[in-house]
Amino acid sequence: MNEERRRLAADLYAVSREHDRAQGDRLARFRNVEPDTAALLGVLIRATAARRILELGTSNGYSTLWLADAAEATGGRVVSIDLDAARTELARVNLRPAGLIERVELRSEDAALTLARSGDAAWDFVFLDAERSAYAAYVQDLVRSLAPSGLLAVDNVRSHAHELTEFTALIESEASLTQSVVPVGAGLRLAVRGTEPRPAA
Ligand SMILES: C[S@@+](CC[C@H](N)C(=O)[O-])C[C@H]1O[C@@H](n2cnc3c(N)ncnc32)[C@H](O)[C@@H]1O
Repeated sequence: MNEERRRLAADLYAVSREHDRAQGDRLARFRNVEPDTAALLGVLIRATAARRILELGTSNGYSTLWLADAAEATGGRVVSIDLDAARTELARVNLRPAGLIERVELRSEDAALTLARSGDAAWDFVFLDAERSAYAAYVQDLVRSLAPSGLLAVDNVRSHAHELTEFTALIESEASLTQSVVPVGAGLRLAVRGTEPRPAA
């Protein structure tokens, strides 16, 4: 990420934190991913050369900015979903000065619907950061719509492990995924979809 975008991302994060501090209602907060986690997502997209990128939970576009910056590097695009149309618009406003609006399709939609309508193997990279109580119901479509070697990243798996017990049990029983929980930020589950074994190099 270049210096100009880093500054925009840092400013947006600071404004969001200030906003969130004043909100009593959890759902009224923007709840941006931690900067270290956002940066790691950017590394992973580049490392895997992911081009078809899905974000579930746009909020005001902080994480989207990092995903879109990485998509620019891989020649890819981001589809980012939020249930709240006002947040979708706010994300649009926040992405524009970064020059990244062309890289992103912002949609006001229920994540469950997006996943159900996603084709098999449709996504190279999925970042799941929406409403945790719904995640267990997403597992089947998440796995189905992930491409072979595709990567799923799920935030808050350490900070809110107690809310994710059903999801965790379901996803960990998926034989097609190889997984690890990375102790960055609020805890990031990474799951890569398997491929057919290849001949040795
Ligand atoms: C934790 S915030 C996302 C933060 C964002 N990824 C970031 O780091 O800047 C969760 C977002 O998910 C959205 N959301 C909640 N339930 C959803 C659903 N069923 N489908 C799509 N978005 C949903 C909320 O409106 C909220 O903006």
